[in-house]
Amino acid sequence: DIEPQADLLDAELVHEALPARRRSSHKGNYGHLLVIGGAPGFGGAALLASQAGARLGAGKVSLATAPEHVGASLIRTPEIMARGVRGVSDAQSLIDMADVIVVGPGLGKDAWGQGLLQAALDSGKPLVIDADGLNLLALYWPDLQRDDWLLTPHPGEAGRLLGSDGGEVEVDRLTAARELQQRLHGTVVLKGAGTLVAGPTGTAICPYGNPGMASGGTGDVLSGMLGALIAQGLTIEQAARAGVTLHALAADKAAHEEGERGLLAGDLASYARTLMNPDN
Ligand code: APR
Ligand code: MG
Repeated sequence: DIEPQADLLDAELVHEALPARRRSSHKGNYGHLLVIGGAPGFGGAALLASQAGARLGAGKVSLATAPEHVGASLIRTPEIMARGVRGVSDAQSLIDMADVIVVGPGLGKDAWGQGLLQAALDSGKPLVIDADGLNLLALYWPDLQRDDWLLTPHPGEAGRLLGSDGGEVEVDRLTAARELQQRLHGTVVLKGAGTLVAGPTGTAICPYGNPGMASGGTGDVLSGMLGALIAQGLTIEQAARAGVTLHALAADKAAHEEGERGLLAGDLASYARTLMNPDN
């Protein structure tokens, strides 16, 4: 047997993938991203994802979250249209307006999160599913397959989706990423040192990133970045390859300037922005 190989992700592909901004363009040209998450007590994850989406250049960003988190979002990032939702009926009009939906950061696994994930799945829109969105998939939709979704598990979440565990996933990450993609279709990002992107055209590994990223919320930031890239017209697989690269390069720039320890997830998107606009 020949060992399966993966492509190496490269900084170049970020600039190849990003469309130029036409002088006459307006926010409608850059897509409407909706982030769904932040059950009571878990607001930070959804705030981080939505703020990263705004920083990565989505034309508009909405946030559907538990009502108690709306004030915090408005204070931190007033550009984001934050709406408190008690259930699906409060979120439906945002879902209808969105071009792409990130669902999962801080979503929780109870009826509130289940209902919102169901509505996102029913919408027929491209989806980025992370965190508890993935845990709910493993519990309640284990056989669902879609071509238009991007799944971003860390090893523990990948283990739940595969019916194994995170330790087993780490033994052979390449096989786990490929198996997830074969079972669930779409594009799968298996996070962790050496993040893997398994999509319909092949598998790639990210050589960038550093252990400064091992701090709470960095995955939530990635999900928002990926959603923003899809909103701006990248295919799901292109967005995954470019977004994973940009996220890791942003962390490398942050570590280079100020060190690995103490890197905050909320800092990453600003570094990613400067990397996306290299002429500044
Ligand atoms: N080297 C490179 N990259 C790393 C490293 C490392 N040593 N450690 C972590 N990363 C990167 C991962 O590749 C990923 O992009 O940091 C990110 C971590 O993402 P998550 O594991 O999802 O962590 P986090 O955002 O804190 O998750 C928040 O959601 O998924 C749930 O259970 C999770 O409660 C947690 C919450
Ligand atoms: Mg996470």
